[in-house]
Amino acid sequence: MKRTLIKNGRVLDPKNSIDKICDLYIEGKNISQIGKNLNFSADQIIEAKDLIVTPGLVDMHVHLREPGFEYKETIETGTKSAVAGGFTTVACMANTKPTIDSPDLVNFIHLQAKEQGSTNVLPIGAITKGLEGKLISDWKSLIEAGAVALSDDGKTVMDSSIMWNVMALSAEMGFPVIDHCEEHNLTKGTVMNLGKISLELGFPGQSNAAEEIIIARDLLLAEQTGGHIHIAHVSTEGGVALIRWAKQRGIRVTAESCPHHFTITDAEVANHGAKAKVHPPLRTQKDVEAIIYGLSEGTIDAIATDHAPHATFEKDRGMHEAPAGIIGLETSVPLVLTKLVNTGKLELNDAIAKMTHIPSEILGIDRGTLSVNTAADVTLIDPKKLQIVDSAKFESKSRNTPFDGWELKGWPVMTMREGEIMMSKIENNK
Ligand code: DOR
Repeated sequence: MKRTLIKNGRVLDPKNSIDKICDLYIEGKNISQIGKNLNFSADQIIEAKDLIVTPGLVDMHVHLREPGFEYKETIETGTKSAVAGGFTTVACMANTKPTIDSPDLVNFIHLQAKEQGSTNVLPIGAITKGLEGKLISDWKSLIEAGAVALSDDGKTVMDSSIMWNVMALSAEMGFPVIDHCEEHNLTKGTVMNLGKISLELGFPGQSNAAEEIIIARDLLLAEQTGGHIHIAHVSTEGGVALIRWAKQRGIRVTAESCPHHFTITDAEVANHGAKAKVHPPLRTQKDVEAIIYGLSEGTIDAIATDHAPHATFEKDRGMHEAPAGIIGLETSVPLVLTKLVNTGKLELNDAIAKMTHIPSEILGIDRGTLSVNTAADVTLIDPKKLQIVDSAKFESKSRNTPFDGWELKGWPVMTMREGEIMMSKIENNK
């Protein structure tokens, strides 16, 4: 059994209220000790002085594109991108081809992940067959096969009775319903946020109301069914306010936001064109500030990337024709550290909690901590490392990021999954 000693790091495990300089001892696949000056013999010693040692990061919202869109990403390349970004667990969305709307597809994802994956991969099942919003999937059998949540992703379920029924089953079985909130009658034909910039650029824009109407509807459905609604990629000030209101009422709601929604605005469309086209769209500075406040006060529970790879030839089609989406796995940690933590807007502990045990608890999985006798999924972060984003060097197959050329401070330097080093940029370890 392989033994690894990670020495002298700042061990940060928010779930267990640990934040101290100490050592971590790993035997085989599990964490076996945490403490100061552990002098156990080890097959490898990792010197972590000046580094932050956190639980392996968890991204509860990514698109791995397999099956069906392997030219954009595969389970192999998407999970390589994840470990490059410090993640050891990802939950993948149902909008593949075929859609993840049957137990066979859930099994396919599990098998591919076992054979090709570098991280744990948790499939999210579709609420309706083919994401068409009409016929429902066999929800129970999807959950029983191992889907961690149900969602129609960008094809928001417009039929409120279907949403009522899936929320009622959520109340019974406990799984979260992940909600991409978009009133399609209001977003048809739009390519960016509705506001000053869309008017200047002459592009059709979508209002904050298009997102907030669905957030409000589904908060009410959660209240009246007792189900667990998880609001994906919150992007508006009003959305944050609605979720705050719902939490105060005791509604079972959790929420996530993405780095692109709390670091940049719709002004980036003028600079980057379709690379800044995403659903929901980049909003205004007022929205960005409300999201950051929502993260800091706990209204927004988790940080997820919505890693959405698309090929360069597709993004080159221009604002009207290009698909929406931004990749995020390899820039999430440095964006969160540089833009939220280093600026004093979010405590480091809270940022790590939102990328580890909180998303794990939302999904009901046993990850995201450094508890003794649990899986040794560990991420090492160098908070002082300065690096320029260079998408040409990404592990992802895709390059659709508006952050190319940004200098960011604080990068993941090692990712360990069940005791095995999956990515390392640390030199001179024994
Ligand atoms: O911009 C987006 N792209 N938002 C989503 O929710 C879906 C994603 C995709 O699949 O490309």
